Amino acid sequence: MRTPLIAGNWKMNGSAELLEAFGRLFADAQLPTPLEIVLHPPFPYLEAASRSLASTPIKLGAQTLNPLHSGAHTGEVSGRMLKEFGVSYVLIGHSERRQLYRERDEDVYDRLLAALSVGLQPILCVGETLEERDAGRTMEVVLRQVSRAMAPLEPQQRTQLAIAYEPVWAIGTGRTATPEQAQAVMAGIRDYQAGYNSELAQQLRLLYGGSMNASNAAELLAQPDIDGGLVGGASLKAEDFYAICQSA
Ligand code: G3P
Repeated sequence: MRTPLIAGNWKMNGSAELLEAFGRLFADAQLPTPLEIVLHPPFPYLEAASRSLASTPIKLGAQTLNPLHSGAHTGEVSGRMLKEFGVSYVLIGHSERRQLYRERDEDVYDRLLAALSVGLQPILCVGETLEERDAGRTMEVVLRQVSRAMAPLEPQQRTQLAIAYEPVWAIGTGRTATPEQAQAVMAGIRDYQAGYNSELAQQLRLLYGGSMNASNAAELLAQPDIDGGLVGGASLKAEDFYAICQSA
């Protein structure tokens, strides 16, 4: 049995007031069990989040990290620092990092390894563009991203991460992948992992991201190979994110 995981990615949004709204709403959470909930606010909110969310089941996540532990890297944040603030999960290779900040597959691997080295649980983000999907290259692209990030990992390391499939064409567009489209890609990722180790493949948690909301979450999360969600826009309203968690 894989524990469902619902993660909220605020991206470069959010506020201290929104953190307090999350704290109030989730303090008396009547939610399905088992369930893991993670919130990934921007870095400046991490300390306030650890206070506001202290009485809730919500764990802290970060949206990226620098692969180095310290040094002359203005503006960057290391995994060691994130651990000091009680962060337990970190997104790796989000499509916006790949597209806007030129993170290559090798950069994604470096960040994945750095997260594992300090005991952070990575959520590896993969997904194809609309052009790649229309060209019938979805699984080729997704499995390339998965293999380049995971191939060098030891078996034990592979059990410590989750993979979020986020079709780029569904992110922030309101155009959600159908449950069938999402399930097909998740099953392909799990089959690929089974080729490496069938037991690990069954343990691997696969999340869907891309315009998941309170109205479509239940159908997506009912799919056999979808173990949770990575939620952007709908995580910016505490009530909407709570409703998605209730669907898990
Ligand atoms: O990381 C989650 C994000 O990429 C999905 O965004 O707004 O489509 O839920 P959104």
